[in-house]
Amino acid sequence: MAEQTYTFRIQRNQVVGGGRLESRWQEYQVKVEPNATVLSALEEIKGHQDGSLTFRQSCRSAICGSCAMRISGRTRLACKTHVGIAARDGVVTLAPQANQPVLKDLAIDIGPFFKRIQTIRPFLEDGPETATQVGKTAYDHVNQVSQCIMCGCCYSDCTMAEVSPEYIGPAALAKAFRFVSDPREGKKSDRLRQLSEPHMMWACSRCTMCVHVCPKDVKPMEAIVKLRTRGIAKGYVEGPAQKHALAFHEDIKKSGDLNEFTLMIRTLGLVGTLQETGSALHLLKKGKIPSPFPHQARGIDQVSKVYNLLEQNPLDVETKAPEIVPE
Ligand code: FES
Repeated sequence: MAEQTYTFRIQRNQVVGGGRLESRWQEYQVKVEPNATVLSALEEIKGHQDGSLTFRQSCRSAICGSCAMRISGRTRLACKTHVGIAARDGVVTLAPQANQPVLKDLAIDIGPFFKRIQTIRPFLEDGPETATQVGKTAYDHVNQVSQCIMCGCCYSDCTMAEVSPEYIGPAALAKAFRFVSDPREGKKSDRLRQLSEPHMMWACSRCTMCVHVCPKDVKPMEAIVKLRTRGIAKGYVEGPAQKHALAFHEDIKKSGDLNEFTLMIRTLGLVGTLQETGSALHLLKKGKIPSPFPHQARGIDQVSKVYNLLEQNPLDVETKAPEIVPE
């Protein structure tokens, strides 16, 4: 492929007095083939144009996760992203990962990200729920999330991490699913109880960004949904998010439509609903108070069929392959 000249617009960051971060944009022109990686272009800049540019890299093979950065608006691995794919009108924009403290230029402090991962006990524990057989479905679940290389791409683009720094994040929850879905784990319920607490699995807003940006196809949000299903099955339904989900489930099953009039009270309880009186008055003023009379959707029998199918296999509804248990 013929070489082309691309503009690399790079966010230069520097910590100045009082820990304040000073940022500016700097442009570099680099002549590379479109299928060259962003990482090789960065090396070209550092080696021949500006030795002060700071970024991380190690394996160059999408294994270590250290080159994760924001590339043209999405967090990706620089060693896996082709310049021609990342460029918009010949410009590649580079910035450090979001939702993480920046150290210099494109290098972030990955420490807080790993602190979140460390809240998940990283070993199988003996206990009353230990099983001795590992079926294919369980193996697939464990295998899927074990592909995670802890690059932080999912956390960087997570919309919930942006507004709630206490949120444990998609990578840590994928890690949790690795243990909860392993039949050999003896304390699954204990883990699910911990994961049902605030800022854990129910804090995810299901924006799917983690699924889009994961360079290893781990699909953290799918793992979160499966964790929630398991948590509900164990009876950990006390939080407002769990009650909200159950209210949806109940309404759609019954009538194919959501009864928004009673949704808030079923989610927040009476006291919580009274605290939201201001919002209710605002809706009333705008003529947006939902009808108190439940509406029955047409074709509800079809909805019931879907529910019956899902309820036959509530924990693994997404798994199409038949279960094969080794002899
Ligand atoms: S350098 Fe290791 S993942 Fe990119």
